[in-house]
Parts: sequence; structure tokens; C-alpha cells
Amino acid sequence: MIILKSPAEIQKIEAACIIVAEILENLRSFVRAGVSTAELEAYADSQFKQKKAIPAFKGYRGYPSSVCISVNDQVVHGIPSHSTRLENGDIVSIDLGTFLDGFYGDGAITVAVGQVDEDTARLVESTENALSIGIEKALAGNRVSDISSAIQQYIESQGFSVVRAFVGHGIGRSLHEEPHVPNFGIPGRGPRLKEGMTLAIEPMVNAGGSDINILADGWTAVTADGSLSAHFEHTIAITKNGPKILTKI
Ligand code: MF3
Ligand code: CO
Repeated sequence: MIILKSPAEIQKIEAACIIVAEILENLRSFVRAGVSTAELEAYADSQFKQKKAIPAFKGYRGYPSSVCISVNDQVVHGIPSHSTRLENGDIVSIDLGTFLDGFYGDGAITVAVGQVDEDTARLVESTENALSIGIEKALAGNRVSDISSAIQQYIESQGFSVVRAFVGHGIGRSLHEEPHVPNFGIPGRGPRLKEGMTLAIEPMVNAGGSDINILADGWTAVTADGSLSAHFEHTIAITKNGPKILTKI
């Protein structure tokens, strides 16, 4: 069942989402060569405390950390570690969620560490563009797969591939609600989009093939071919004036 939200509920989701956006932007400026992903998480934790928001991922299905930090060929769900230090030329995907006053917010960015090569920069830029292109289709009257197919078509036109093993999702009083929002598909399928829906749209894009493997830690998803991967995510609301991005400062 897809749960529609009232304007007052959307405001509460937005409050959680603004915290997500603020912490992500602060982490972006914390990213540099030499920093460990555990240090990034510790910084995020201090921000959660300061903002009196609960990190949504910690303990979710046993996930051990409050932020997912995925470097280079790691797609999503990388576990912060003292032994993983960022290096010049890396890309790092940071995914975080908060729980505030009964509602969740969820967002992700991919950040270049220092100077990255041209193809890597294009992967990151294309993934962010794909998110915008998907969001543009989040209009009442469209169907879920109109978002999915717009993302897939754009990404494949850029010579990259979308990950199929993970999808975007509805969000609200739960971190994951119906509907699934895949980053692939043919248009005109799936539930019809309605005013009051709140969705986390999150393209995960590989420079090579779309297949992934899960590491022995049970969480970290990596590209099967070792190619780089990028991830951007916004929580949005479908309003009568079109999509509203909630994970925005
Ligand atoms: N951002 C991820 C998602 O979209 C959530 C991570 S699952 C966790 O749904 F277990 F790592 F928390
Ligand atoms: Co999500």
C-alpha cells in the first residue's frame, strides 16, 4: 500500500530531510585525501547529536554504522572503517538518513577526492544529472516507471549502466515504503504517481556493467567488474506544483 502524506506530514519529512542535506554538505567539505571513512562517520555522528536527529541506518536490519560510505568500485552500503583512507583521485559515495519527530529523510551524494580523471568526473556528473532527470518525471498522473526509464535511458546514452539489485523507495514513517522506484524499466508501468507521495529516488550508476557482488561483511556492494560506481539520492514529494526536493538546504 502506498501511503499518501498530508502537507503537515510532508513538512515533517522535510524537516528530517533538511538535516540530511546539511550533514551531507558538511561531510562534502570534510572529504579530502588522508581522511578515513571512520573519521567521516564520526563527524556525521557529532552532527546528528548536535541537530538532535537519530541516524536512521544504525541498526537497520543490523547495519552497524550510522552512515554508508562507499569508495570507488563500492556501489552502496560501504561500512566506515579506520583502515579505509581516501586518496587523491577517489570518488566516495555518502548515503545517510535521519529519523526526526516520527519521520525519515534519506539522501546521498558522491564526492570527488582531490583531482579525478575526466571519465570519473563524467560518471559522477551523469549520475547527478540522472537523478534530476528522474525527479522531473515525478509528476502526478505519471507512473513510477516513467521515472525509472528516464534514468535508465539517460545513463545508457552516456555509456554507463544502472544498478538493478537496489532501487529507490517510498519513505515516510518508515525508511522504506511502497512503491519500489527502480532505476530501469519501460515507461508507463507501475503505480500511478499521486499528490502526497514521498519518494526516495536514488540512481546507482556503474562505469562498466550493472552486476554487483556483496562482500563477506554481508553489506558492501561492489561492482562485479571492478569499475567505478556513483550514487545520488533525494527525497522528494509529489505536489500539485510538481516534484518538490525535500533534501535541500
Ligand atoms: N539509503 C539506503 C536506502 O536507500 C539505506 C541503507 S540501508 C542500511 O535505502 F541498512 F544501510 F541502512
Ligand atoms: Co534510500
